[in-house]
Amino acid sequence: MKVWILIGPPGAGKGTQGDLLKERLPIHKLSTGDVLRKHIEAETTLGRQVKSIMAEGKLVSDEILLALVAAELAEVQGQDVLLDGYPRTVAQADALEGLGVSVAQVIYLAVDESALVRRLTGRRLCPSCKRIYHIEASPPQLAGHCDYCVDTALIQREDDQEERIWTRLAIYEKETAPVLAYYRVKGLCQEVKAEGEVENIYAKVASIFLQEQSVIK
Ligand code: AP5
Ligand code: MG
Repeated sequence: MKVWILIGPPGAGKGTQGDLLKERLPIHKLSTGDVLRKHIEAETTLGRQVKSIMAEGKLVSDEILLALVAAELAEVQGQDVLLDGYPRTVAQADALEGLGVSVAQVIYLAVDESALVRRLTGRRLCPSCKRIYHIEASPPQLAGHCDYCVDTALIQREDDQEERIWTRLAIYEKETAPVLAYYRVKGLCQEVKAEGEVENIYAKVASIFLQEQSVIK
């Protein structure tokens, strides 16, 4: 198993790019945020434990994340995996190494802070298929409704309110930016300027994957 890590601040486009990669390349995407939100929706014990932490825009504990990631990776043994949202502390990066997985590349999506706030306040999601929209950059055909799920109204994530966005950005700087340095010293970090057209950014991200023959379809 080889693991690619998509890293970047909240709103950098990890979900948008990760969904395209998963659709177009033979790679399994594991978004820790998506898995945790599924637990909240299903009202599992874990979901009840993390609901208010996530709504406030704070990080869930490293221990919970390690157990979750270890279980998810065990289920997809043998496949190449794209991690979106993990690791986001240096302790999590150490823990991932402890699981014995081989990190192929870390792709850092770089976006200016002002653009991040615009992206997150304007983000809308389909609660059914989880497609990601933006009210200006990628609006649905019929305002407020998913293009694919008939009669489904789009929703806003609880942590996408402006004050929570600032909390998330501050936590990113304090806890997650050091993870970039962690991988840079290992020679494993490639930066992609992630502003402009989604497809242009995709081309740059995909080219990093395509350097690795094992993921070409
Ligand atoms: P998570 O779900 O991972 O959220 P995040 O890291 O804050 O990132 P986002 O999902 O908000 O942004 P994104 O980069 O995916 O951007 P997107 O593609 O949607 O984590 C949520 C929470 O879960 C955390 O706060 C924490 O509580 C918990 N958690 C998860 N993992 C954890 C961990 N490892 N440890 C501890 N806690 C953890 O795009 C954003 C918007 O921009 C969209 O509207 C999109 O349409 C638009 N957009 C995308 N690309 C472009 C473009 N090129 N131009 C214009 N608009 C664009
Ligand atoms: Mg996301």
